[in-house]
Amino acid sequence: MSSRVSPLTPHSSPRFNSLPPLSLYIHVPWCVRKCPYCDFNSHEARGTLPEDEYLAALLADLEFALPQVWGRPVLTVFIGGGTPSLLSVRALDALLSGVRARLPLAADAEITLEANPGTVEAEKFAGFRAAGVNRLSLGIQSLNDRHLKALGRIHDAGEARRAAELALSTFDNVNLDLMYGLPGQTQDEAEADIAAVIALAPQHVSAYHLTIEPNTYFHRYPPVVPDDDAAAAMQEVVETRLAAAGYAHYETSAFARPDRQCRHNLNYWSFGDYLGIGAGAHSKISFKNNILRFSCARQPKAYLTQLAAGSAVSERRELGAAELPGEFMMNALRLNNGFELSLFADRTGLDLTHVLPVLDQAEARGLLLRDHRGVRPTPLGQRFLNDLLALFLP
Ligand SMILES: C[S@@+](CC[C@H](N)C(=O)[O-])C[C@H]1O[C@@H](n2cnc3c(N)ncnc32)[C@H](O)[C@@H]1O
Ligand code: SF4
Repeated sequence: MSSRVSPLTPHSSPRFNSLPPLSLYIHVPWCVRKCPYCDFNSHEARGTLPEDEYLAALLADLEFALPQVWGRPVLTVFIGGGTPSLLSVRALDALLSGVRARLPLAADAEITLEANPGTVEAEKFAGFRAAGVNRLSLGIQSLNDRHLKALGRIHDAGEARRAAELALSTFDNVNLDLMYGLPGQTQDEAEADIAAVIALAPQHVSAYHLTIEPNTYFHRYPPVVPDDDAAAAMQEVVETRLAAAGYAHYETSAFARPDRQCRHNLNYWSFGDYLGIGAGAHSKISFKNNILRFSCARQPKAYLTQLAAGSAVSERRELGAAELPGEFMMNALRLNNGFELSLFADRTGLDLTHVLPVLDQAEARGLLLRDHRGVRPTPLGQRFLNDLLALFLP
């Protein structure tokens, strides 16, 4: 007699015939000024950046991690922050050369750099491109001076527009980050922002609803932001405008022209592997019979000190088989087109039978759609994503 196995108690540990695609994330933890809404691992840079010391640390970090990914090609690199565009062209060039010398980078690797729209950064775009960056992600946030000021940004709308234009004439793959639901923002202003972003014609747009995160200035001193209904109406207009302009909505906040989806983020969302180096960077690496997560010390000083003493890894743990279905779904169900059924076994190393009963249950509740090829969230499932994901938790 066959019995179905609950995803809460998979009876086997992961087993991989071939390992998932591998990405590299590099964290640069400094910004000119800390934005009042930001809970990323970013720290105000006082004085000059210790970029040579940090560069040496990143390469030492990478060398230390190498045995975990030995021989595996790296398909994408993402240099994020913080504000990595604060690095000099010389340091970025040395960083990418150091990466290439240590890891087999795929010939067509996507190499993204996050940049802020300041004039000083924009002057370096051509140099960043010559160093090997082929995708630029520019945090413009808004094209309205009043809102940029309320967000504590150091750039104004004119600088954002000029930096976007320069980025688009330098790179043929550019993402613009936009936020909506901003302090004091009206529906018309949100619509004007998305229209202005579309007029710039980037290949990719990331549009985020401003969230008030714990441990931020905005959490301590909350600004007046549009209520849930108003923010939902803004989201609607952002999505409609982008769809009409030919951008496919492929993940909660991500929109792309055909073939311009972010391959690095897609690898996260399809539960691929990633090695993270730099302060606070996280890694998820699969081996033949298990999956490990580890992360580095968050504070730049602690990161540098720990690395000098050996390894900067401050936390390391093996993912239990019972956690894998939830971890996989938390990523894959963010994708509007969901995932092909075979991806579950490919990425978790577990048999699909572990989750079939829960997929049935979610489908019966109208949260998922399933056919012979794949699984994707329904609009109801997208709206109540947390309820949907809870079904897969141990
Ligand atoms: C890692 S951040 C850094 C990029 C770059 N330093 C910048 O701020 O322009 C990436 C993006 O996350 C978004 N973001 C950061 N904090 C947010 C928040 N509290 N709510 C919504 N989006 C946020 C912003 O659009 C930002 O550009
Ligand atoms: S510039 Fe970006 S990373 Fe830096 S504090 Fe502002 S939002 Fe955070």
